Amino acid sequence: MKSSSDTLVFEEHESVVRSYCRKFPAVFSTAKNAILEDEHGREYIDFLSGAGSLNYGHNDPMIRGKIVEYILRDGITHSLDFHTSAKKRFLLAFDEVILKPRGYNYRLQFTGPTGTNAVEAALKLARKVTGRRNVVAFTDAFHGMTLGSLAASARQSKRAVAGVSLPDVVRMPYDGYFGEGVSTLDFIEAMLFRTGSGVDIPAAFILETVQAEGGVNVASSQWLRGLANMARKYGVLLIVDDIQAGCGRTGTFFSFERAGIEPDLVCLAKSISGYGLPMSLVLIRPDLDRWEPGEHNGTFRGNNLAFEAATSALDYWRDRSFSHGVAFKSRIIVDHLNAIRAAAPAHVRGIRGAGFIQGLVFDDPRIAAHVSAAAFGEGLIVELCGPTENVIKILPPLTIEPIVLKQGLTRLSTAVSNVLHASLECVPDPVSCSA
Ligand SMILES: Cc1ncc(COP(=O)(O)O)c(C=O)c1O
Repeated sequence: MKSSSDTLVFEEHESVVRSYCRKFPAVFSTAKNAILEDEHGREYIDFLSGAGSLNYGHNDPMIRGKIVEYILRDGITHSLDFHTSAKKRFLLAFDEVILKPRGYNYRLQFTGPTGTNAVEAALKLARKVTGRRNVVAFTDAFHGMTLGSLAASARQSKRAVAGVSLPDVVRMPYDGYFGEGVSTLDFIEAMLFRTGSGVDIPAAFILETVQAEGGVNVASSQWLRGLANMARKYGVLLIVDDIQAGCGRTGTFFSFERAGIEPDLVCLAKSISGYGLPMSLVLIRPDLDRWEPGEHNGTFRGNNLAFEAATSALDYWRDRSFSHGVAFKSRIIVDHLNAIRAAAPAHVRGIRGAGFIQGLVFDDPRIAAHVSAAAFGEGLIVELCGPTENVIKILPPLTIEPIVLKQGLTRLSTAVSNVLHASLECVPDPVSCSA
């Protein structure tokens, strides 16, 4: 990142661990839906959405109104896990708007406010209930940065700094890991359950139905059903980590609805509060809710501003028009990405995704990095993902206006063609002189 007078203060005072700000080195000050504005009044279209925490955009006016009103009438802000009116409203609305219409019966556990804490709670509970230590996690998975979640995550660069061993996780191949048309289910069943495999029966499978950080890998509905059936057959719990792919990201509230499966435990965070406020929870099949009081505690499990915001955000889900809008706009994204691919077949290996999480897959990670940087130059914030960071992850707010969506996609096309044009002029190591 180039130093400038704008960013000097962060370089001098903030830890070098900071990351996103290196790729997008502006100082942002205001935001509205999908538009961010920096201190100089420059606008950027947001195709990152707080890594999936802003599904309803920045500063949604409906949600903002509710939380401002709540603050002004001295509603409780912090409450450990006391009963509060704000929590009551959220519990009732979540049941009415999300669970009941889908025929789901879950208890809600509010965990510490990060996604990784919800994952830690789910893993702990699965181990406690089954009395087993092993958990199965998948290739290219990402579940968070605390030790239990990190043990379940696959990215080597993140695991390497744990400083301790990351035990009691068995890695299995995700859908498609051995290439198209090869189902990994038979392999998983043999490795886990055939006598003599040498692997202890696990407490749970933990998985994302769409691996976001892992490269926008979408598990097929058939694979998900197969895994859910295997879990049931062998008495293994199924944990879906819906922290990034949930809350409407794939077009339905839960990402697993398309497969018709019913996980035993579901982790939600990021967009559950609807406003970028910290809030996480685990949905627990009622008979598995076998915690002793306080066994998974935390000071910030009572973020009432987040409850208030989350209740308001559920209004988006009261009828089907929101999902329909997401489906309509996701076709705009896919059509546009197909056009980018058609214009650069030698570089773009494919497009994959579901709903409002789409990946543009490059052969060369260096090209992908240059495209992300060039997009920022065009006024578009779009991140990379995948084990080699060769995938551009398109993650706009679900509420983005179609015209802004198209502008963002046009900026992406410009970035791709500028990078590829520059690389053509520079042989034999094209990327080193582009962008
Ligand atoms: C699928 C998934 N699980 C867990 C996490 C961890 O969430 P947090 O960063 O809030 O701890 C993330 C974050 O990106 C995620 O994408």
